[in-house]
Amino acid sequence: MKHLKRILDLSREEAERFIRRGLELKRRLKAGLPHRPLAGKILALIFEKPSTRTRVSFEAAMLKLGGETIFLSSRDLQLARGEPLKDTARVLSRYVDGIVVRTFGQEVVEELAAFASVPVINGLSDKFHPCQVLSDLMTVVEAGRRLETLRVAWVGDGNNMANSWLEAAALFGFELRLACPEGYEPDQDVLEEVRRRGARIVLTRDPVEAVKDAEVVNTDVWASMGQETEAETRRRVFQPYQVNRELLQHASPGAIVLHCLPAHRGEEITEEVLEGPQSVVWEQSENKMWLHAAVLETLLS
Ligand code: CP
Ligand code: NVA
Repeated sequence: MKHLKRILDLSREEAERFIRRGLELKRRLKAGLPHRPLAGKILALIFEKPSTRTRVSFEAAMLKLGGETIFLSSRDLQLARGEPLKDTARVLSRYVDGIVVRTFGQEVVEELAAFASVPVINGLSDKFHPCQVLSDLMTVVEAGRRLETLRVAWVGDGNNMANSWLEAAALFGFELRLACPEGYEPDQDVLEEVRRRGARIVLTRDPVEAVKDAEVVNTDVWASMGQETEAETRRRVFQPYQVNRELLQHASPGAIVLHCLPAHRGEEITEEVLEGPQSVVWEQSENKMWLHAAVLETLLS
């Protein structure tokens, strides 16, 4: 059983195949060529946090490939009344062909996967957001960049996105420079694991150092879902970590700007940069659907 709980569940070849296939499916389905390999299959989505892109892009991808979806807010499941995850995993596996889960603890994803007999796909946890980073890589490739030789900057919080970018750096070998304030670095165990695997990681407090000559500049919200009570403190701490025109001038001239969205204009990124010529965020959000289509086609077929 193949699950997608984190990027390091994949070999480099598997990740490359998803990216290539995502690009192919984008061309093929946009050209109106029918492709319904998932006819008769059902995907369940268990979401414990809000979502616009991940939910709709997974559901749309499933429908485009001929399948059906069942969206389950965790409030409506017996999980909310204490039914064990391991029971939920085994019961749902009898009904559906795959499960996407968005949750808080990564251990929820792990436990579902341990007990499910269908693929479990992480649609974001506090620790990782693997499908997002795979579609970001697809966007980078689509923009004509080669992953191996890339220099990528991460500016801001060492959060779930940063952790998944670290794992992607380990898989593909690109250089990843992260500028994070003290106390807001990525997970120590993820850092150790990717360094053990030979990833080229630079961790700094200086956004300019991170962005210097980077071909991809990446940021994300300062307070992630579940950190709402810290938002005020974080706004203060992260002030020097805004991606704005001045910071972007230190990047490689043709650098592209990524943001997984939702964005807070005037906080982690300025309106000018988000809406500017170097931003590829709308393509990036579209690509989630095509990358998810590639993942579903592979794991559910
Ligand atoms: N980028 C992303 O995961 O967005 P949603 O929270 O809207 O799914
Ligand atoms: N780091 C953000 C990503 C949202 C898609 C969060 O977890 O809220």
